[in-house]
Amino acid sequence: MIARVKHVLILAALMLFSMQVAAQETEQEREPFDDRYCMTCHGIDGVGNFGVQAPRLAGMEPWYLERQLKLFRDGLRGKHPEDTEGLAMQPMAVLTDESITDIVAWVGTWEYKPAPATITAGDKEHGESLYQTCATCHGINAEGNESMNAPALAGQNDWYLVTQLQNFKAGYRGYRDDDVYGSQMRQMSGVLQTRQDIIDVVSYINTLRKL
Ligand code: HEC
Ligand code: HEC
Repeated sequence: MIARVKHVLILAALMLFSMQVAAQETEQEREPFDDRYCMTCHGIDGVGNFGVQAPRLAGMEPWYLERQLKLFRDGLRGKHPEDTEGLAMQPMAVLTDESITDIVAWVGTWEYKPAPATITAGDKEHGESLYQTCATCHGINAEGNESMNAPALAGQNDWYLVTQLQNFKAGYRGYRDDDVYGSQMRQMSGVLQTRQDIIDVVSYINTLRKL
């Protein structure tokens, strides 16, 4: 039921988006990259939008942002038929390398702003013990670690982290061996055995946000 509502919301956003694109194209030749496309879903301040399940971009590491845009563009992410949210994002990433460079520069103008915590029901102590494995790559404060290719988790929208962990576990993300880092994380998601484990670890990550 919830998945259905989410699906309808995402479809509605997509329709709105294509209407805007069509309106703009009649007025003028479309520029290669227009940041308004991204803000339609990710929010005008880039802090994410629960309604369409689009996560916060403000504060994202440039190397991670670039990699994700290329993964989407090349169909290594967001092509699994069960990945409703990834399927909404994938066609948005039909971008040239130049546009991706522009986007990385543009997103870099937004300051880090932690997303508000929405998940409060988890067992943070259990989450903390689960997180010890994660810390090896994502850092003790979930601040991310470029040398391990692992992005920051602290400050990201908690509902998005839950979806990603479910998607990795189900094989909706990290489904191809040539997605080296996604498939690595897919293996690590096995540490979380139940949905409650996912909620608990994300509740603990919520305590690590820089304010
Ligand atoms: C139609 C709505 C929509 C538009 C427009 C859109 N996105 Fe997204 N985006 C999403 C959704 C939904 C997700 C979550 C995908 C998932 O759950 O895997 C997402 C995910 C992402 C991610 C992955 C974040 C992460 O932490 O891995 C990046 C990066 C991203 N979008 C950047 C962009 C950029 C840049 C633009 C503009 C060129 C854009 N998006 C336009 C809906 C949209
Ligand atoms: C062996 C190193 C490693 C370990 C251990 C690890 N991760 Fe990851 N994780 C990664 C890498 C690398 C990525 C980036 C994948 C990509 O680029 O698509 C990632 C991505 C993620 C993402 C997606 C973030 C986003 O913005 O979309 C989440 C959520 C995540 N990890 C949570 C966890 C949790 C929770 C644990 C502990 C149970 C964990 N990771 C353990 C390496 C690791």
